[in-house]
Amino acid sequence: MKAALKSIGAYVPEKVMTNKDFESMVDTTDEWISKRTGIKERRIAADDELTSDMGVEAAKIAIHRAGLKINDIDMIVCATISPDYFCMPSTACVIASKLGRTNVTAFDISAACTGFIYGLAVAKAFIESGMKKNVLIIGAEKLSSIVDYTDRTTCVLFGDGAGAAVVSGTRKKSEAITDIHVSADGNYGDLLMTPGCGVKNPCSEKVVEEKLCTMKMKGNETFKIAVRTLTSDVVNILNDNEISAEEIKHFIPHQANYRIIKAVGDALKLSPEQVVLTVEKYGNTSSASIPMAMNDIWESGRLQYGDTMLLDAFGGGLTWGSALLPFAGKSSQ
Ligand code: ACO
Repeated sequence: MKAALKSIGAYVPEKVMTNKDFESMVDTTDEWISKRTGIKERRIAADDELTSDMGVEAAKIAIHRAGLKINDIDMIVCATISPDYFCMPSTACVIASKLGRTNVTAFDISAACTGFIYGLAVAKAFIESGMKKNVLIIGAEKLSSIVDYTDRTTCVLFGDGAGAAVVSGTRKKSEAITDIHVSADGNYGDLLMTPGCGVKNPCSEKVVEEKLCTMKMKGNETFKIAVRTLTSDVVNILNDNEISAEEIKHFIPHQANYRIIKAVGDALKLSPEQVVLTVEKYGNTSSASIPMAMNDIWESGRLQYGDTMLLDAFGGGLTWGSALLPFAGKSSQ
């Protein structure tokens, strides 16, 4: 039995926050944000809208599009760095409960922006070992809850949203996920972190005052490592599988920064038609960005059954990864 990606779904909150909105909050401009990142606007969840709520909406769509019922799902994996609760219960357990599914394997993955690709690797392994049949992978983030809106170096980058996919067993070789690379180097953990609220800096007045539960990033250093690492990772996965860049129908990268995406796309000599870009309208939604981007091209009819996709992502940890796979679901049009 092989694992195949059978469907995709996404949810975006209604509220739009534009670059202009930040001009009155911090010392920044629409021009700086657009030029340095490619972001124009991002979605912000309502106060009472949780990461799990967005994940549930995306999950319902993905399950429906896979032609399944919730009880057909035997494992729920949620990739997130903005869980509903610190420690427990996991957001995957909350989502399972909200979907009305009990007696199911459910757990979270903490791999920052690479979380969806880590989830895909876990789903593939569970299915191909025969342990599970239909795995629901969710990337869901309410990053607006862990952003410091007085820090211009991070607050303009992030948005909220969720994406979900169903990965199921298949006997058709042409539908099988081809390959997945997932890696990490913890020596660079300090480049991108939320220093507070873990056991190192437990919740205290100091942690609250210094906003240590919000994301801190050494953006420029992260940028350079991201470009270098992602470029070699995508070249390696293509070489390992003897697939040329021209054979890639859709390059769906993590949407952190247009300049990172362009650098990796240029290294592979990809045409603009091959590269999927949603960073302009959603900003960086961490683990949700790849499934949200995949959903965008599915809904517009651009992603068709059998299309070869190349995914890549890079995030806190540091973590990174890439995946090569055909789309094995029904086309939308
Ligand atoms: N508006 C105006 N100026 C700003 C802003 C802003 N919003 N933010 C930073 N600046 C200033 C800096 O203070 C600096 O000023 P200085 O030269 O006077 O010191 C100047 O702009 C240049 O700053 P850099 O950090 O060098 O800017 P850079 O071109 O690198 O862009 C960015 C910053 C967008 C963060 C980029 O480095 C980046 O995208 N990094 C990678 C992010 C990433 O991929 N992270 C991993 C995934 S996220 C996750 O895992 C949760």
